[in-house]
Amino acid sequence: MTLSMKPAQTTATAPLATHTDEVIGQARQVLLQNYKQQPIVLTRGEGSYLWDAEGKRYLDLIAGIATCALGHCHPAVSAAVKKQLDTLWHVSNVFFSEPQIQLAARLTKASGLPGARAFFCNSGAEANEALIKLARRYQHVVKGNAERSDIITFEGGFHGRTLATVTATAQPKYQAGFEPLPGGFRYAPMGDLEAVKKLVGPTTAAILVEPIQGEGGVRLAPPGFLKALRALCDANGLLLLIDEVQTGIGRTGKPFAFQHDALMPDAFSLAKSLGNGLPIGAMVCTDEAGKALPSATHGSTFGGNLIACAAAIATWDIATAPAQLEETIAKGEHLRALALAIKARHPGRVIDVRGQGLLFGIEVDQGAADVLARCRANGLLANLAGEKTIRFAPSYLVTREQLGEGLAIFEASL
Ligand SMILES: Cc1ncc(COP(=O)(O)O)c(C=O)c1O
Repeated sequence: MTLSMKPAQTTATAPLATHTDEVIGQARQVLLQNYKQQPIVLTRGEGSYLWDAEGKRYLDLIAGIATCALGHCHPAVSAAVKKQLDTLWHVSNVFFSEPQIQLAARLTKASGLPGARAFFCNSGAEANEALIKLARRYQHVVKGNAERSDIITFEGGFHGRTLATVTATAQPKYQAGFEPLPGGFRYAPMGDLEAVKKLVGPTTAAILVEPIQGEGGVRLAPPGFLKALRALCDANGLLLLIDEVQTGIGRTGKPFAFQHDALMPDAFSLAKSLGNGLPIGAMVCTDEAGKALPSATHGSTFGGNLIACAAAIATWDIATAPAQLEETIAKGEHLRALALAIKARHPGRVIDVRGQGLLFGIEVDQGAADVLARCRANGLLANLAGEKTIRFAPSYLVTREQLGEGLAIFEASL
């Protein structure tokens, strides 16, 4: 179905504008035009399916935007939210509240970080801001190294849209026009340990890295790279910060993706899947690194909002149960097999298949945006990561049949 973007026609013979046309027309008037929005008005979701205002059904293999880990309106998460909604919505962070503490207990225990502590905020960018502030203040105040301010990040990475996190995002297209950018960020090619070593010096405070560059095209850190960064940090008194915003909460088959490499960061960030679609982010750090942010040094009014915490607890308990983590890995391998079979049938057209758990990218030779538009017309939602990669980050509860249905639509849309 192609939806007209034209305004309502008024002649007797012309069709009346659909409800969708009217909603999109109004959106063009009242919303900041900062997103490349697709011509669909989504109205309802259940599990891995979404429906638009015209009643058309879509298979959602991007789960919101890698957010709805258990699918849309999961009953256990809905029930937890409804219960909290009738109990208490929000209190100031100068008081204690149990949902926050229960969530922090789960995240810190699973992290394995020594003396782990959690800080709650509302988004991935805010969680990464907390990492950056933690690292700087740790070096400046806890260690007394006032000159250590620089954070090393990686080309092709993505860390958010605030001024500091967009500067940490080593991609000019996200930074252009926002100058002057804050100082103190240095960039290395992803996976190039020698280049990182050359950047490390007396002004370096920390290294910030994604285990898988999600927005950058679903690119996995090369085997052993994160461990090598850990060793480099240890040798030079730097903090290792890991951005788990996209990979955390079981998406790759472990609670946190760094656990595949059997290493401990000093701190890591979470968001996307944490609230199954409700806005919540978190920074988890070691007790030692946490000394950097004592009373009154950092905060957030809505961070750890009780409704978001209730959603996150319900999500966590299902998403990271051992049997679910195994299922996530098994379904990811099923997705990989389907994608590789398509690659074999379309040599030259499909260039690469990359991923881990239920975060996958299929790189095509050209026209990725057109492929996505055809997928959408054929009832499949995925999204673009980088220039040529179509990203799949479905609900962990997606069925093998749904993966088969989705990949068949993808192949037909090639
Ligand atoms: C790895 C990573 N970090 C940070 C962010 C920013 O998160 P948010 O949009 O919630 O601020 C994203 C968002 O896509 C992300 O993928």
